[in-house]
Amino acid sequence: MNLLIVGGAGFIGSNFIRHILKKYPTYRVINLDKLTYAGNLNNLKDIEGNANYQFIKGDIADERTVKKVFRLNKIDAVINYAAETHVDRSILDPSAFIKTDILGTYNLLEGIKEYKIAKYIQVSTDEVYGSIEKGKFTEESPFKPNSPYSASKAGGDLLCRACVKTYGLPIIVTHACNCYGPYQYPEKLIPLFITNIIENKKVPLYGEGQNIREWLYVLDHGNATDFILHKGKVGEVYNIGSGVEKQNLEITHFILDELGKDEAMIEKIKDRPAHDFRYALDCTKLKRLGWQSEYDFPSALRETIRWYLANDWWWKPLKSGGYLEYYKKQYQR
Ligand code: NAD
Ligand code: TYD
Repeated sequence: MNLLIVGGAGFIGSNFIRHILKKYPTYRVINLDKLTYAGNLNNLKDIEGNANYQFIKGDIADERTVKKVFRLNKIDAVINYAAETHVDRSILDPSAFIKTDILGTYNLLEGIKEYKIAKYIQVSTDEVYGSIEKGKFTEESPFKPNSPYSASKAGGDLLCRACVKTYGLPIIVTHACNCYGPYQYPEKLIPLFITNIIENKKVPLYGEGQNIREWLYVLDHGNATDFILHKGKVGEVYNIGSGVEKQNLEITHFILDELGKDEAMIEKIKDRPAHDFRYALDCTKLKRLGWQSEYDFPSALRETIRWYLANDWWWKPLKSGGYLEYYKKQYQR
C-alpha cells in the first residue's frame, strides 16, 4: 500500500509513520509536511534512510503544492495529521489555524476527489464536541467548539462530512482524546511539565487544576488508526479513547512524584479563557469493530517521562526562544 501521510513530522504523525514502516515492510510512505514550529525532522531521524520512506516539504494550504503531490505520486490512502494544534496559540492568533485546519483540509479533499483516492482519514479531536460535565460524547454528539483551535478542526471535519454526503468520497473522520508520549512538542501539558521539572522550573497550572482530560498513549492512537485504515468503513466517524480520565492536578502530581519533586514546583496561574472543563469519549463503536487499547496509563506515562529524561537533545532546543514564557505572560495581563 502507498500511503500519503500529511503532517507526519509532528508528534502523532511521526509515531504513526514509525509504527507503519516497522509493521508493514512492503508499505511505502510519503510524508508531506510544512515543517512549522511543531514539525521536526528529528522526530524521524531513525527512519530517514528507509527505502520505503520519502519526505516532501510542502504547505497544504497551497492548492498547487497539494495537486502536484497527488499528480506525481501513486497514492492508495491519505491520512491527514497536519494541523495547528495548540489551544493557547489559537487564542493568541487563530489565522494559521483557519488556513491549515480548514483550507488545508479542503485542498486535500479536492485532491482525493480529483485523483480518486480509495481512502482518506481525517485525524481529529474530541475538542470539537465542546466540554461535557457528565457522561461521554458519542459520534452522534453535536459539535460545540469553544476555542479557535477546536472551531477550525470542526470546520475541517464538517467539510469531510459534506464530501461524504455530496460526492460519496471515501472519508473516515476520527475524534481522539488527549495523547501523550515521545516527541510531543513541549508546549502541551505533559511534555511541558516534565521538561520544566527536569530543568527545575515551576509548572504553570491553569486555575485550580481541576479540569479533566481523557489520556491516550500515542502508540495506542497509532494502532487505532492502523486498525481503522484496514477495517474502518468509509463514510463513518470513530471516537478513539482510553477511558482514562485524570484531573490536571493528578497528572501534575504523578510527574512530580516520578521526578522526586513536590508541590512547591506548582505555580497556579490565571485560567485559560473558555477553558473546557472535561472531555470524555464513548468508544463503543470502535470497540465493537474489534479495537482495544494496548497500553496502561501509569506504565506509559512513566515510559514517557523516561524518554524525556533520556532525550534532552530533542526538546532543549525547542524550549529556547521565549515563546512559551511570552504567551503565559499574555494570560496574566
Ligand atoms: P503537532 O502540532 O505535533 O504536529 C502537526 C504537524 O502538522 C507538524 O509536523 C506541522 O509541521 C504539520 N503542519 C502544520 N501546518 C501544516 C501545513 N499547512 N501543511 C503541511 N503540514 C503542516 O500535532 P499532533 O499533536 O501530532 O496532532 C496531529 C493531529 O491529531 C492534529 O490534526 C490534531 O488536531 C489531532 N489530535 C491531536 C491530539 C493530541 O493530543 N495531540 C489529540 C487528538 C487529535
Ligand atoms: P493541553 O495539553 O494544552 O491540551 P488541550 O487544551 O488541547 O486539552 O492542555 C491540557 C490541560 O492542561 C488543559 O486543561 C489545560 C491544562 N494546562 C495547564 O494547566 N497548563 C499549561 O501550561 C498547559 C499547556 C495546559
